Amino acid sequence: MRIATVEATPNIAVVKYWGKRDNKIILPMEGSQSFTIDSLKTRTTVMFSDKFKEDEFWLNNKKVDLTDKEIAERMQQLNIIRERAGITLKAKIVSINCFPTAAGFASSASGLAALACAASRAAGLNLSAKELSILARLGSGSACRSVVGGFVEWHKGTKEDGSDSFAETIYPANHWPELRLVSAVLAEGKKKVSSRAGMKQTVATSVLYTARLAYLPTLLKEMREAVGRKDFAKFAELTMRESNNMHATMLDTWPPIMYLNDLSKQVIYAVGELNANEIKAAYTFDAGPNAHIYTLEKNVPEVKRMLEGINGVQKVIVSKIGNGPVYLEQEREHLIDPKTGNVREHYYDEKANLIVIKEDEK
Ligand code: DP6
Repeated sequence: MRIATVEATPNIAVVKYWGKRDNKIILPMEGSQSFTIDSLKTRTTVMFSDKFKEDEFWLNNKKVDLTDKEIAERMQQLNIIRERAGITLKAKIVSINCFPTAAGFASSASGLAALACAASRAAGLNLSAKELSILARLGSGSACRSVVGGFVEWHKGTKEDGSDSFAETIYPANHWPELRLVSAVLAEGKKKVSSRAGMKQTVATSVLYTARLAYLPTLLKEMREAVGRKDFAKFAELTMRESNNMHATMLDTWPPIMYLNDLSKQVIYAVGELNANEIKAAYTFDAGPNAHIYTLEKNVPEVKRMLEGINGVQKVIVSKIGNGPVYLEQEREHLIDPKTGNVREHYYDEKANLIVIKEDEK
């Protein structure tokens, strides 16, 4: 059966990817590092069939326009997968996110990682983690880090064809079992400048960006060592300063880009207070105002209290470090009915944190 379903989760970078040297096949200016988390998953089912007249993509129960240039660019992996598998069948892709889409939570990372894994499996390919990472990278740079679990490094690579630009696990998910990520939703809704457009503009105009590139190789090494030693204080300092550094180059971009809002800044100050006597928390921000705070299990209650005390924090989500994508093998877990090729009625039950699939009508 040419159908596969995969659940993938986001990753939150501690050394950020911000800038490409190749915009088409998505090659980064420098390496980056992240932890894959175990919650906020995306489930994606891909089915290839001669029943389908054209490719179709449903995201959160809405049909996505595949003729849109940006979407088509992000889906380039689909044709590569078909070519490699030697098939010309059309695909139906159905995907659902268990979190707010495009609000600075890395929905594109989990989504495009799930797509790479599900589409290649559905096409009958049995690819290595490295090959999957390269495919996911073509959809979204950060997605290449979500095809594996634990502490992950995306090697920038040097080859023009991108064959050495992939992510791999440096330390598995159980290396630092006490580590947690506490994420605060500060604002829902779509961000103003996409990461794709924003980073291009930073590379083109920011004066500070050169200094950033010069310091990144040292940072990658120091971060690898701090995580290896499970040295939270060092890890936290490196993480916060790195987030600040990336956001400094954003502000230095012309026209300026500002993803942090006043609430984000309140979180930065509150973390500073929390850390006054002992380093307990490390904030990091992506291309949006939401705060991601790495901390240790024993400090989660204090971090949560701190966030809940800030007026405007809408939601707090605690995650552990995850193992990467999971292939769902049960027939009833597919978002497409394998017999008919129809999309199954489904929704995300936020309270129960479950994807509910309506029973097939007989
Ligand atoms: C700020 O991976 O979304 O989250 O490759 O253009 O799809 P594209 O960009 P994307 O950028 C993520 C940027 C970031 C930092 C990070 O995750 O490393």
